[in-house]
Amino acid sequence: MNPNELQAAGSGRELLKVAMPKGRIYKVASNLFREAGVPIPSDFDDTRKLIIELPEAGMSFIMAKPVDVPTYVEYGVADIGIVGKDVLMEENKDVYELLDLGIAKCRMSVIGLPDWKPVIHPRVATKYPSVASQYFREQGQQVEVIKLNGSIELAPLIGLADRIVDMVETGQTLRENGLVEMETIFGITSRLIANRVSYRMKNEAIQSLCDKLQHAIAAKPGAGV
Ligand code: PRP
Repeated sequence: MNPNELQAAGSGRELLKVAMPKGRIYKVASNLFREAGVPIPSDFDDTRKLIIELPEAGMSFIMAKPVDVPTYVEYGVADIGIVGKDVLMEENKDVYELLDLGIAKCRMSVIGLPDWKPVIHPRVATKYPSVASQYFREQGQQVEVIKLNGSIELAPLIGLADRIVDMVETGQTLRENGLVEMETIFGITSRLIANRVSYRMKNEAIQSLCDKLQHAIAAKPGAGV
């Protein structure tokens, strides 16, 4: 079954299935949903349950690893999802990007040691090999991209890579490890995404949630600045 057929097979269910990212984005995302009028009980914040039904809101939450959110949405097992722009850029899935939620702000940057010197064929470590490859290709630079799954800042410190491409939020990890940001590649915020078939079949529910979220975003201090 292709993603759309799989979605169509499950489209008889009524609740809007939302892929929520577990971990650091969940808290800000669930607060934004609350501000938009979605009644999420606070004890959900610490739950280990992976599927949470919210019949009073007409939704069920699928608690997903953030990097997997676009996959669930592309295959239609979630109608919509919340995901960082970093993951969207890296995963390049066939989904609609509906709304910039303006939460979990950070940036994707090229990082290195302050005394970094250009080498002929540098090694670049990253959790985002596709983003990094595209960036250096566009810069006309040949690099070897090394995929790591976390603690990327280790790579230049122990000689695995000359530079890294990684997310910077507060800059604390860089400061504590004596690294510097050399270039910002793009800004990151969380986005609301939708499965293409769900967007048509459940348009009213999705559009209504989008409108409520947009109001909540606009009501935040500093919105529109
Ligand atoms: C992310 C990212 C940086 C850090 C940036 O790592 O990869 O290491 O956060 O945040 P800061 O600028 O506020 O210090 P994460 O905490 O997700 O863990 P990881 O190293 O296992 O990827």
